Amino acid sequence: MTSRLDGPLKVTGRAKYGADHNLPGMAHGYIVVSTIAHGEIRSMGVTAARSAPGVIDVYSPFDPVDLRTPNTMFGETWVPLQDKEVTYYGQPIGLVVAETYEQARDAAMTIEVTYHERPALTSLWDGISSAEDAPPGFDGSPLTMEILAPGISSIEDTLRASPVVVEATYSTATQNHAAMEPHSAVAAWDSDGLTVYSGNQGSNLQAMELALALELDPSSVHAVNPFVGGAFGGKGRTSVAAFLAAAAARVLGRPVKVALSREQVFTATATRAATIQKIALGATADGSLIAIRHDAWSAAPMDRSFVEPASHSTREYYAAQNLAVSQKMVPLHIPPTTFMRAPGEAPGSFALESAMDELAVALNMDPIELRMRNDSTAPLGKDLLWSGKHLDECFRVGAARFGWAERTPHGRTDGDWLVGLGVATAMFPALRFPASVRVTLRDDDTAEVATSGADPGTGLLTVLSLVGAESLDIPPARVTPLLGDSALPPGGMSGGSTGTASAGSAIMIAAAQVIEDLQGLASSPGAPFDGMEVSYADGRVLADGRTVTFGELLRAMSRSSISAIGSSSPGEELTKHSFSSFGAQFCEVRVHRWTREARVSRMLGVFDAGRIINAKTARSQIIGGMIWGVSAALHEGLEIEPNGRLANGDLAGYLLPVNADISDVDVHFVEYPDTLHNTVGARGIGEIGTVGMAAAVANAIYNATGIRVRHIPIMIEDLLA
Ligand code: MOS
Repeated sequence: MTSRLDGPLKVTGRAKYGADHNLPGMAHGYIVVSTIAHGEIRSMGVTAARSAPGVIDVYSPFDPVDLRTPNTMFGETWVPLQDKEVTYYGQPIGLVVAETYEQARDAAMTIEVTYHERPALTSLWDGISSAEDAPPGFDGSPLTMEILAPGISSIEDTLRASPVVVEATYSTATQNHAAMEPHSAVAAWDSDGLTVYSGNQGSNLQAMELALALELDPSSVHAVNPFVGGAFGGKGRTSVAAFLAAAAARVLGRPVKVALSREQVFTATATRAATIQKIALGATADGSLIAIRHDAWSAAPMDRSFVEPASHSTREYYAAQNLAVSQKMVPLHIPPTTFMRAPGEAPGSFALESAMDELAVALNMDPIELRMRNDSTAPLGKDLLWSGKHLDECFRVGAARFGWAERTPHGRTDGDWLVGLGVATAMFPALRFPASVRVTLRDDDTAEVATSGADPGTGLLTVLSLVGAESLDIPPARVTPLLGDSALPPGGMSGGSTGTASAGSAIMIAAAQVIEDLQGLASSPGAPFDGMEVSYADGRVLADGRTVTFGELLRAMSRSSISAIGSSSPGEELTKHSFSSFGAQFCEVRVHRWTREARVSRMLGVFDAGRIINAKTARSQIIGGMIWGVSAALHEGLEIEPNGRLANGDLAGYLLPVNADISDVDVHFVEYPDTLHNTVGARGIGEIGTVGMAAAVANAIYNATGIRVRHIPIMIEDLLA
């Protein structure tokens, strides 16, 4: 149970986030955004802005900064001001740079924009008739597929032949990441190139995107982000603020800071796409699934740059003989969509796990029993067994811990409250990215573990020190972890729940190497153990009944340090097993008999995620995810007006849970280290905490009230009797 190492710096205000950097001669940029959703900019009247107090320059599609579209492993990232097309309301279309933020902002307000406006399509339901097939996922796998048992010709036939069928349509809302730290950047150029301070999920990825956008050698871009105020997928790509700050600073020859206002974060970054999902489940009378059909439509921006793959993970959930999943995208005049914590799995699990609850009701069966009856040993249509799966134990342990035995099919009452219990399965694939980490032993008997990635609140910084200490056999207090700097070896990107598995594997390799090198040094000519066979334990080199610490050895050899870089990539294991984390989500919801207010009074998540490196930060990660699930179920949803304007694109109108909305949260891990996946044995916990929870809430509401709500967020008006 190690407290996060960056905690004291953060709560005392000493942690320097991107926008906290103030450089000599720094100018301030303010972004101008569009006020239509679709059309072409005809003119931008910037004369008044240019002559406003303190204004240095104004950039627009008529007077652009020079940026190329970067294309990396995650595809193309849009860069602003390169053409006059507007495809969503709130699109960045200009930048005013002035001596102060207020001067830039005030001047921006004077800019008159005229447009050739065209009709906008902003509603997913309206656009569904113009849906297009979704391209393959980022790993190249198709998002539409059918797996049928021998002799079966169509999924519809199997559904028709199923003794029990449930079929329904579900929908999920557009969401914004709403990280505490708005997207911002400070950019400065010198003879070595560009330095950018900007919160991001991986500094080397950000440096690469900036290098491509500005046509620079990657080695001349230095991205710095040791502290990130939340990201959740919304800081995976380089922000408009960072592109504009870097480009303007180059033209102006002075540092530039650009920070989005909170309202701008809602449109000038990206969102989680709204989805519509149709599910049909066919089962035998005893609850064995015969057929699963899951068709999903996701809103997409007009450039079709991202699809929320809502039905994709359904093939992994349950054993069934027949499965058909499809994914369509619906291009709309809406802000860009992107990764958000469990992209695909979060909205997809709401639909699938609600449908499973409906099937349990139709079968008059306990919903946990239904899930266990259909437990799978491998993803459908794939021969590779899970490396480890203890979902049954998660449900068993969870049921006992949560008091599931007291549940009745129709809830119970407690005074004026209708009380219900709900469950859902959670799954998230266990992934790894290539990672490199440098481990250094220093002459003062301390060590350093360094990689470029980011800790946007995940606990990765603390995990680096713990895995480093374990690998070097010294106490964690003697290990200094470093991350958030593109000058460090590339690794530990905060995405896909991969940070610990990726960086941890590389640490173990680097530590083994540096220990081997240290032993070589110890037995080298003139060294304390000249010519001897040496071993290493407890931070010491041993031979001949004598020991020296690594610091003593380095001092004896007049060395200040010794270091090694370890690299690790996913490999052979992918041909041997399937890998996923699993969980059982439980919640108790109270719906007020008269006001119809729904409150989650208790929740429990039990997870099988391999080895847990740090119980405290792991629990925090999961709690955050579970709360997000409640938030998705009861609070969050962007309302897009017909003209594309976000009706609630600010923190006054976009509801997020506060402490008073969340009472008792319990987290438990069943710990089975997964060394088939990676040497550390950890499978990743960043995203799974949010998966399934929205369905668990909706299922508990059904249990309490008998009202099945098939969309989120669930509103009071949905629960009027
Ligand atoms: Mo996160 S949604 O894996 O960037």
